[in-house]
Amino acid sequence: MGFKTDLKYADITPKADYLNRRQLMVGLGGLGLGAIAGPSFGAGQYSTDEAPNTLKEITAYNNFYEFGTGKEDPARNAHTLTTDPWSVKIDGLVDNPGNYDLADILGGVDIEERIYRFRCVEAWSMVIPWNGFQLSQLLNRVGVQSSAKYVYFETLVRPEEMPGQKRAILDWPYREGLRLDEAMHPLTLMATGIYGEDLPNQNGAPMRLVVPWKYGFKSIKSIVRISLTDKQPEATWNMQNPREYGFYSNVNPRVSHPRWSQATERKIGGGLFSKKQDTLMFNGYGDEVAHLYDGMDLSKNF
Ligand code: MTE
Repeated sequence: MGFKTDLKYADITPKADYLNRRQLMVGLGGLGLGAIAGPSFGAGQYSTDEAPNTLKEITAYNNFYEFGTGKEDPARNAHTLTTDPWSVKIDGLVDNPGNYDLADILGGVDIEERIYRFRCVEAWSMVIPWNGFQLSQLLNRVGVQSSAKYVYFETLVRPEEMPGQKRAILDWPYREGLRLDEAMHPLTLMATGIYGEDLPNQNGAPMRLVVPWKYGFKSIKSIVRISLTDKQPEATWNMQNPREYGFYSNVNPRVSHPRWSQATERKIGGGLFSKKQDTLMFNGYGDEVAHLYDGMDLSKNF
């Protein structure tokens, strides 16, 4: 992963648009509460009040190497991905292993809105209004066995629809993993939408992980397998270059990437000459997650 600075997105806030759309959705839902309830934007327990990026920014500047390594490749190429039907194999140390249809998964969880900060290891960031469910809900439903310590995730392999997979840019499938307590944390989300609409393909349709206190590469897209294990699972960037990308990859301004500092970040949409902002420990989620790493040396276990 490297830097690209050829941004040309307008610096506009989508907030007004978004509020209108949300109220419209509430209205369409037959509740008619839009006017009374007013905007609950950012009011959720886990959501940030920071202004979210525009849908255009979130869907036009992506990392999804299955569709090419350029930031604009996923938006250009990801329309070829078939996301319906979709099933997810859930196996390993669970009571109810099986191939779960996406509709079946979604039938057993609560979809919420979560406005999260998103910090890429390449030192850029966004604020994204996700829709999704807590991963813990799905894990509880399939029954995690007491011997399980980690969760492993896999993206699909379908080179005929994912042109990037025709080349060995990475060792496909894209893989990621979390410790079980990280996976069960209420902040850990399975995202299925953005701005109240289905997840666009380039953002990891139909279902992708979002772990807001970790660098973005942990947030694996278009998931087809979830496996409970008792050993630390393989993770794509960690395998690719363990010196540069750790298994934990918690956002940490004090631990530099060997090739660049992680102390600051450039918020996408701020304009090419906008001032960088300070990167926050655990991407600002320290109060919620720091205890998970008590007693760990985060400069070694990075
Ligand atoms: N998941 C898969 N399958 N393939 C990828 O290349 N890129 C990761 C992560 N998930 C990636 C992936 C990286 S490096 C980042 S920063 C985020 O997705 C980007 O998510 P976004 O494009 O929705 O902002």
